[in-house]
Amino acid sequence: MKRIEHRKSDHIDVTLKEKVVPDYDYWADVHLVHRALPEVDMKDIDTSVTLFGKRLELPLVVTAITGGFPLAEKVNRNLAEACAKMGAGLGVGSQRPAIEHGDDGTYSLVKEYDVPLVIGNVGAPQLVRQGSERPFTVEDVERAMEAVGADIMAVHLNFLQEVVQPGGDVNAKGCLESIRALAKEMPCMVKETGAGISREMAMLLKGTGIRGMDVSGVGGTSFAAVEMYRAREQEDSSASALGRTFFEWGIPAPAAIIEADVGLEIIASGGVDDGLRMAKGISLGANAAGCARALLAEAMESSERVIEKMRIMQAEFKATMFLTGCKSVEELQQRRVIVSGRTADWLSAGDV
Ligand SMILES: Cc1cc2nc3c(=O)[nH]c(=O)nc-3n(C[C@H](O)[C@H](O)[C@H](O)COP(=O)(O)O)c2cc1C
Repeated sequence: MKRIEHRKSDHIDVTLKEKVVPDYDYWADVHLVHRALPEVDMKDIDTSVTLFGKRLELPLVVTAITGGFPLAEKVNRNLAEACAKMGAGLGVGSQRPAIEHGDDGTYSLVKEYDVPLVIGNVGAPQLVRQGSERPFTVEDVERAMEAVGADIMAVHLNFLQEVVQPGGDVNAKGCLESIRALAKEMPCMVKETGAGISREMAMLLKGTGIRGMDVSGVGGTSFAAVEMYRAREQEDSSASALGRTFFEWGIPAPAAIIEADVGLEIIASGGVDDGLRMAKGISLGANAAGCARALLAEAMESSERVIEKMRIMQAEFKATMFLTGCKSVEELQQRRVIVSGRTADWLSAGDV
């Protein structure tokens, strides 16, 4: 296996086997207000939304996970089949291996399924020069988008992971301009990978012409943690210490949704693993929810298992809509939300 393939299979292994989420539960800080008299008929509840111009029956995007090595075929096939069946969106994993070495079919297979929204994926670090490696061009990214039939391209921001990982790509200069150049030529969004997007960042990104953001805040998979476990395995004490120290670094997912609300479309993610959390994210201002880790174990098994889990999430989401008296997702976005604990502290704290 090549080094990058090892890394990708490690990421899946570690996420499945180790504790990669923070101790503090930021989603428990978010409360929807119970309506003792919902005044809706459950059968009239419509969970559909429009995201980036595409209609999703279930307001969920399975965010980028993998591609580019043999195991990814099974994972992406199971996810694509389930997303097509449930009417959810799907992001492929980083298309770097396909751009550098050609597509092995593990990404383009998503075209075989009728997925309502397909999101491509490239890393911001690959859009600028890293040592002697040439940056990806607009044409590279256009080809990657075509290869998977993507409706929109996501540029992932993963500098927390890069700084913890030994030999990571830590030149971050020029990324904003590169995102601007991409957004001129194709529909683009930006996604974090577990450390969240702040108000300042969201404002800067809005100016590049992107269509939206997947906030991916703290509360779910921490890539500092994932790299910490990998470093321990490789007996790299420095990287392992960095990973430990920055395990919980970033903007709590519920706070990131509010911070990133600058008038673009938003995916609420970072620890979303049930339908109640999907509803909480949407009521905080997102257009849809997103998750990766919550469906990973199922995706390793079968499309049926993924569908089963998605159906549970859908039932929980619908129950939340019922109990808050919402017939449409638009109504859910207007509902009163109470935020407590550390998340409220974060939102109310003044700068020093
Ligand atoms: C095994 C694994 C691989 C991932 N690979 C990518 C990737 O290639 N590109 C990307 O943008 N995000 C990647 N992510 C990040 C997720 O898309 C998501 O932003 C993050 O895991 C937080 O969501 P979660 O708490 O639901 O897992 C990956 C996540 C996991 C668990």
